[in-house]
Amino acid sequence: MRAEFDLQAIALELERRRRFPILLFEKVVGHDIPVIANVMASRRVYAFALGTGQGEMPAEYARRLKQYVKPVVVDDPPFRRTLITGDRVDIRQLLPLPTYFPGDGGPYLTAGLACARDPDTGVETAGYHRFQAKAANRMGVSLHSRRRMFEYQRRAEAQGRNLECAIVLGLHPLVGLAALSYPPPETSKFEAAGGLFQEPMQLARCETVDLLVPAWAEIVIEGEILAGVREPEGPFGEFTGYFSSRSTEHVFLARAVAMRERPWFQSVASGRAPDHILPLGVLREVEIRNALARAIPNVTAVHVPTSGCASFIAFVSIKQTRPGEARHAIPIVLGVDHYLKLVVIVDDDIDVFDESDVLWAMATRMQADRDLVLIERSLGAILDPSATERGLTAKLGIDATRPFGESFAQKLVMAPERETWARELVSRLLA
Ligand SMILES: Cc1cc2nc3c(=O)[nH]c(=O)nc-3n(C[C@H](O)[C@H](O)[C@H](O)COP(=O)(O)O)c2cc1C
Repeated sequence: MRAEFDLQAIALELERRRRFPILLFEKVVGHDIPVIANVMASRRVYAFALGTGQGEMPAEYARRLKQYVKPVVVDDPPFRRTLITGDRVDIRQLLPLPTYFPGDGGPYLTAGLACARDPDTGVETAGYHRFQAKAANRMGVSLHSRRRMFEYQRRAEAQGRNLECAIVLGLHPLVGLAALSYPPPETSKFEAAGGLFQEPMQLARCETVDLLVPAWAEIVIEGEILAGVREPEGPFGEFTGYFSSRSTEHVFLARAVAMRERPWFQSVASGRAPDHILPLGVLREVEIRNALARAIPNVTAVHVPTSGCASFIAFVSIKQTRPGEARHAIPIVLGVDHYLKLVVIVDDDIDVFDESDVLWAMATRMQADRDLVLIERSLGAILDPSATERGLTAKLGIDATRPFGESFAQKLVMAPERETWARELVSRLLA
């Protein structure tokens, strides 16, 4: 197996067959370190990681996301077995970095959880960011989601300082799910991970930077994001399904690489592969649930579909109990995450996980002169090719519910007992 294209081609072929196993590539040409991929590609994994059934997973994930547990610091983490510093740091030679698509700007590190501290308060962040290997110890990085890391770097730079940063590879899925979440600014992402684990996360000190990182990591790259330096980065096959050259063009300089005795290198399949986008969609679903719960008592389901890049579109079903609830829900959903730009609210008889059911509700319950809410020129995703270069986007909310408290056309429904009878008969005949 070659690191160039082959790993991504296998992930894409499995996706085409609707199969999402975790993949271990034991032999990658030119490297001794095996590559593990597709770790975050299925809802089944998240349910397993949270110790729930798949049906209960969203509610359990939403419940634990509201809890924060402080981490503890441990000595002698397994990744301290090997430490490479100075001139011996050559990331391209040490690690089996894949090139994902023909057209990518070069080899990329996609599963690196970048950890840093707020330069003013010391609060920790952790988030995935794409890193393009450019030279032995130099990587381009794009902080285009413009969340904590972007803000920490911006403030460090304003103080004339580089931002110390550690890139961590090979982590439990719950650490990744916590890293995507929105804890309050004074709360560390590791406290959010503790909430998901329901126990303190174990952190360990880095050698050459003043940072704490997950102790059970496979590989840690220590370094800094340079102040006042920008260099072209990309193109890269992004979650939107397009190559993107839009980038914040930051530069990371590595000081050291620490690793376990026989480490695994984690890769996240790129583009619209579920390994890349599913965690983003599921996280948004549970954050929307938690945000709506304060104002709308009867939310029945939330879906952020992968057809909307698991980022831009949300379908929410509610059981209406008061007039105007659907329209009230729209800005709340849009406020959860700045990538969201289309929200459709439906009644609870619509299955939000069945996109044709949602379209049917829009076709028959929505009137464009009455049921649309439009916000112009709002904060959006830079990588959305339909947004402006600076990431300005319009946002649309659609109320596709039946008017509350008014008579409406009667929906076609089969008698329940005949439906059960037909289901059993057809199952028997087809068995
Ligand atoms: C696999 C994966 C890759 C990602 N790549 C990037 C990226 O290259 N740049 C970026 O800004 N956000 C990226 N994101 C989204 C961020 O990881 C996410 O917004 C995170 O919460 C940001 O962390 P922060 O709050 O520390 O900035 C990615 C997410 C996933 C799941």
